[in-house]
Amino acid sequence: MARVTASAYTSHVPAIGAALDHGRTHEPYWQKVFGGYEFSKRWLRDNPPDVVFLVYNDHANAFSLEIIPTFAIGTAAEFAIADEGWGPRPVPKVIGHPELAAHIAQAVIQEDFDLTIVNRMDVDHGLTVPLSLLCGQPQAWPCRVIPFAVNVVQYPVPSGRRCFQLGQAIRRAVESYDEPLKVQIWGTGGMSHQLQGPRAGLINREWDNRFLDRLIADPAGLAQVPHIEYVREAGSEGIELVMWLIARGAMADVAGGPPPRVAHRFYHVPASNTAVGHLILENAN
Ligand code: DHB
Ligand code: FE
Repeated sequence: MARVTASAYTSHVPAIGAALDHGRTHEPYWQKVFGGYEFSKRWLRDNPPDVVFLVYNDHANAFSLEIIPTFAIGTAAEFAIADEGWGPRPVPKVIGHPELAAHIAQAVIQEDFDLTIVNRMDVDHGLTVPLSLLCGQPQAWPCRVIPFAVNVVQYPVPSGRRCFQLGQAIRRAVESYDEPLKVQIWGTGGMSHQLQGPRAGLINREWDNRFLDRLIADPAGLAQVPHIEYVREAGSEGIELVMWLIARGAMADVAGGPPPRVAHRFYHVPASNTAVGHLILENAN
């Protein structure tokens, strides 16, 4: 059977992608950011997944105000890189896993989570920047990726509680797939940031670090935090953090297993307008 081996969590700031693509990673400003991912790139090479189930949000590139799916699963064989206004990032296209994605859609929908099935979707910085941070700049991404887009841009957005429950259903779906695949689930976006309005530039280090503490040790309690607290404490774009609860819900301890091992934890301010947070949690074998 397939199994969830680990979860990873990271911010997805577009300027990080631009710094990589334009060869600016060694500048002191960016060194402080990329330094936090050196371990992670080694870790991913040492713990290669067959598939990454990548929870992210689209930023009005694949979707628009015309259609706003709350949860959308990418079931295609491949996904092109979105043009976000400056041409698509010069990174490899994303190779999907249609069979596993279709299985997860079937299982999760039968558990009453109404996913939107997407057979064609371009993927933006929300997905490609986390891949770049953990995989570096390869000719081809080292594994298959199932894009899972969550609407955290246009209200109403899903609650942390719903995301946490969905993660648990995704874990059950993965574990009922009849092939011995190693699956990692990544939660992306956040941490505190606000891009517009009078509070633009808001960062809340204390709240972010408490979020990381609770994500590790008290995810069920953290899942009860209402969306208004994210917006008040972590800024309007801080709401992206509910996506981390999908990945966390898929870890073994939530289903009665042993607690995960914290392989890596990193926090840094700033990257562009954002507080960068990053965590790697491993399930026991
Ligand atoms: C920034 C962060 C984001 O999450 C995003 O989607 C766009 C921009 C920023 O910090 O500049
Ligand atoms: Fe974003």
